[in-house]
Amino acid sequence: MYTQLALASSILLAAFTQQAVAVDKTRDPSLVASLDDAATQLDRLALLTDDAAWKFDFNEQKPNYNFAPGGVINMNAATFPAAKGNGMTLAMLNLGPCSMLPPHYHPRASNYVVAIHGNTTTYMYEENGARLVTETLLPGEATIFPGGAMHMMVNNGCENAQLVSALNAEDAGTQNIGNVFTNGFPFELVNAAFGQDLASSDVASKMTPVGTGSNWGLSECLKTCGVQPNGTTVKV
Ligand SMILES: *[C@@H]1O[C@H](CO)[C@@H](O)[C@H](O)[C@H]1NC(C)=O
Ligand SMILES: *[C@@H]1O[C@H](CO)[C@@H](O)[C@H](O)[C@H]1NC(C)=O
Repeated sequence: MYTQLALASSILLAAFTQQAVAVDKTRDPSLVASLDDAATQLDRLALLTDDAAWKFDFNEQKPNYNFAPGGVINMNAATFPAAKGNGMTLAMLNLGPCSMLPPHYHPRASNYVVAIHGNTTTYMYEENGARLVTETLLPGEATIFPGGAMHMMVNNGCENAQLVSALNAEDAGTQNIGNVFTNGFPFELVNAAFGQDLASSDVASKMTPVGTGSNWGLSECLKTCGVQPNGTTVKV
């Protein structure tokens, strides 16, 4: 067991090594454009003639559907044209042992999250002056991250965790807080803003590249679970 403080600071450290979350590519831009132009839902149905166009298989969404370290799989207008016009995103959150979603927020959506498997702790900080809200979610338990609220989560266990997330926008967007340190804000101004040297090209170069939306968590946890950060499970 770690102390709360050690846990918080290690999570912060882990957060700084992760920068980006996967960006959804629009799979069929011309179909989505036609769906957008359609006057009625019957017109849209006529564009989605094959029943297969109405089924989305999370299990088949490689590389994001994995547990080493994990990933976020979005069923939305970009990945599933039938979603166009419904104003929602359904997401599967896969977290391997000790894995986490780095601190981020969704600029255009509130986010409901329900745990299906595992033991996951969520952290939310809504805005300046707010208090930190922490929840540990077991299967069947849920929480809400209101629109724009900064949040992150970590799988506490050595087993895979899986959560389902519903967002009230078909293009919710995701902004990782690590972008402050990597995506062009002048380092010296960022450091002046924070009153200490947190940003540098060295820090930026060590950021985990754009991945599947999840990153490995605390090294102590991985050691306890006998998991190598590259996904190799070893005997302890
Ligand atoms: C879930 O994980 C937390 C943090 O490690 C732990 O305190 C708690 O006992 C776990 N809950 C269950 C039901 O295993
Ligand atoms: C994973 O890391 C371990 C320890 O560093 C190494 O022995 C193993 O070859 C690596 N596996 C892969 C697939 O890279």
